[in-house]
Amino acid sequence: MKTEGGSDAAKRRAGERAAEDVEDGFVVGLGTGSTTAHAIRALGRAVDDGLEIRGIPTSFQSRQLSLEVGIPLTDLDAVDGVDLAIDGADQVVDEPETAAHGALIKGGGAAHAREKLVDTAADRFVVVADPSKLTDRLERSVPVEVLPDAHPVVADRIREAGGEPTLRDAERKDGPVVTDNGNLVLDCAFGPIADPAELAAWLSEVPGVVEHGLFVDVADVTYVGADDDVSVRRY
Ligand code: A5P
Repeated sequence: MKTEGGSDAAKRRAGERAAEDVEDGFVVGLGTGSTTAHAIRALGRAVDDGLEIRGIPTSFQSRQLSLEVGIPLTDLDAVDGVDLAIDGADQVVDEPETAAHGALIKGGGAAHAREKLVDTAADRFVVVADPSKLTDRLERSVPVEVLPDAHPVVADRIREAGGEPTLRDAERKDGPVVTDNGNLVLDCAFGPIADPAELAAWLSEVPGVVEHGLFVDVADVTYVGADDDVSVRRY
């Protein structure tokens, strides 16, 4: 359920711009996905050059990459706080006149539960995106991580609310995607989402839901990379 499109050059510009915001001594949330990977690699180079930071990865993928590039890692329970988190998104509302401006759908890589934990713990949450992620209204299916034996029950509740849930299948493995937390993912199509905050609140109340991929009023800024520059959205 990853977004297709968006050039690697655009993703790299966004990721590297976000890495420039990291200061000596920072605890940094390290998001998941191909755009954040550019930020992690840039931070690895800065660490080589003497920057002293500690990273908190949001997934197996971001932990492996961070170890590979030499970023010292820590955990949420070992720090007093997170100074900055950098993370990608599958959709970003880009409509300044609406209440949903800056709302996100995340979870295309099934990492949204830990991403939300770390991104919301940060003093500042920086989203990195390419222009293909921008939208006037959230309309992709919303990834919902569920306890394994809860998936039929949660799917029923989603249908009752007008959504269409699909259990996410794994690739190169028979059966479903199993998250880093040992859970399953329902991709829930609701069509265009008129009120992301309302849907987010409702999903959070459904028993069996571990976390959903709607991030409302969480982002502080989005860096949108293009092939030759970066534009900035502040919220
Ligand atoms: C991981 O579950 C997602 O939330 C990613 O952060 C999101 O899919 C963005 O990934 P890309 O930068 O690879 O598009």
